Amino acid sequence: MTQTSTTDPSPKHPGVMVRREQPFNVETPLELLRRDYVTPAELFYVRNHGSLPAVDPDTYRLTVTGLVERPLELSLERLKSEFSRVEMVATLYCAGNRRRELAEVRTMPGKVPWDAGAAGNAHWAGAPLREVLRSAGVREEARHVAFTGLDKDEESGTGTQYGGSIPVEKGTSAEVLLAYEMNGEPLAPEHGFPLRVVVGGYIGARNVKWLSGISLQRTPSDNHYQAREYKLFPPHVTAETADFSRGEMLGEIPLNSIVCDPAEGAVLSAGPVLVRGYAIAGGARGVERVEVSGDGGNTWVEASLEEHGDYAAAWCFWEASLDLAPGANQLVARATDSASDTQPETVEEVWNFLGYANTAWHRVNVRAEG
Ligand code: MTE
Repeated sequence: MTQTSTTDPSPKHPGVMVRREQPFNVETPLELLRRDYVTPAELFYVRNHGSLPAVDPDTYRLTVTGLVERPLELSLERLKSEFSRVEMVATLYCAGNRRRELAEVRTMPGKVPWDAGAAGNAHWAGAPLREVLRSAGVREEARHVAFTGLDKDEESGTGTQYGGSIPVEKGTSAEVLLAYEMNGEPLAPEHGFPLRVVVGGYIGARNVKWLSGISLQRTPSDNHYQAREYKLFPPHVTAETADFSRGEMLGEIPLNSIVCDPAEGAVLSAGPVLVRGYAIAGGARGVERVEVSGDGGNTWVEASLEEHGDYAAAWCFWEASLDLAPGANQLVARATDSASDTQPETVEEVWNFLGYANTAWHRVNVRAEG
C-alpha cells in the first residue's frame, strides 16, 4: 500500500515549540510537560521525517509478510474485532532528545535541536503485536520484525517510506501494541492515524506511525532510519570516518532524568524551592533513584518518586525540595537504575556526531534573589 495525498496536523497547544514547520516537528516546553503524568495529545511532541499521509480508514490495509506461515492482509475493522484490545501506558522518547546540549559542544548541521521535551507519556489502546504475529505464524528463522510507514522521507532526501525494526523477542513480548487509540481517542493525523506501533521501552524511532507493513526477516530493516540514522557512535567517530555497519542500532531507551521546573533562566526567591522533573529507563531495569543538586553537583538530595501505577514502559515523575542560596545556582538531576548504573557527568563523554542518547547530568541555571 502506498500513499500519495497528505494532510494537516491537528491543532496543538499554543505553548508548544514548533521546531520545524515542514516536516512538522514540535516540542513540549518542560514546565507544561511536567503538569500531567499522561501527556495531553495537544501537548504531545511530534517527530516527523516527511509529510503526514492522509489515510482512508475504510480502505486501509495492514500486511504481514516475510518469514511467516500465513501472510495476512488486515483491515482496521478486522484488527479491532479479531484481536484483543489491550491498554498500555507508555512513554515515547525521541533518541535525539537533548541534542541541543550536544550541538553546543560541536555543531550538528541539519539536525533538529531538541531540548528535553521530545518525550511524552500516553495511554494507548490497540491489538498486541504478538497476537497478530501468532496468527501469521512466525517461522523459526525470523530474527527481526520490520515495520514500514506510509509517509515518505523528506528530511534526508531518500524519498523512501519511513521504517525500522525490532528484534523478534521484543516483537513477541507483551510490551508491543499496534495502537489505534491515544488517550481514549483515535490517533491524531500527526501521531500516526489510523495505526502505529508502540514499542514499550524502545526509542521513539521504532514506534512507526501510519503503519502499512510488517515483515518478518533474518536481518534488521535496511530502511535509512534503521541503517543510517538512530545509530550510536563513540565520540571520536565523525561523519567522515563513520562506518555505518558498525554503529549501534539504538533500541532500549537510555537512563535519563530531567529537571522540568523551574525552567532554565528562572528567577526565584532564595530558600526552599520545589524542583520537579521526569526520569526514564527503557528495558527491564527501572529507575531506582533520582538525585538532585542545587549547586552544580557538589551536594545532592534524594528526590521522591511519584506513584502512578505499575507501568513498566512509562516515565516516573519526581520532586525534591532544595535550599537555594542567593545568587546563581545550577540545578542538576541524575538517575540510577536498578542495576546501580548511573548517568555520566558531562556531555563531552556522550557526544556523538548524530546527536543521540544524551544521558549526561541534566543542568538548569537559575537565579535566587533575597
Ligand atoms: N513513523 C513514521 N512513519 N514516520 C516518522 O517520521 N518518526 C519516529 C516515530 N515514528 C516517525 C515514525 C520518531 S523518530 C519518533 S521520536 C516518534 O515517531 C515520534 O512519535 P510522535 O510524533 O507521535 O510523538
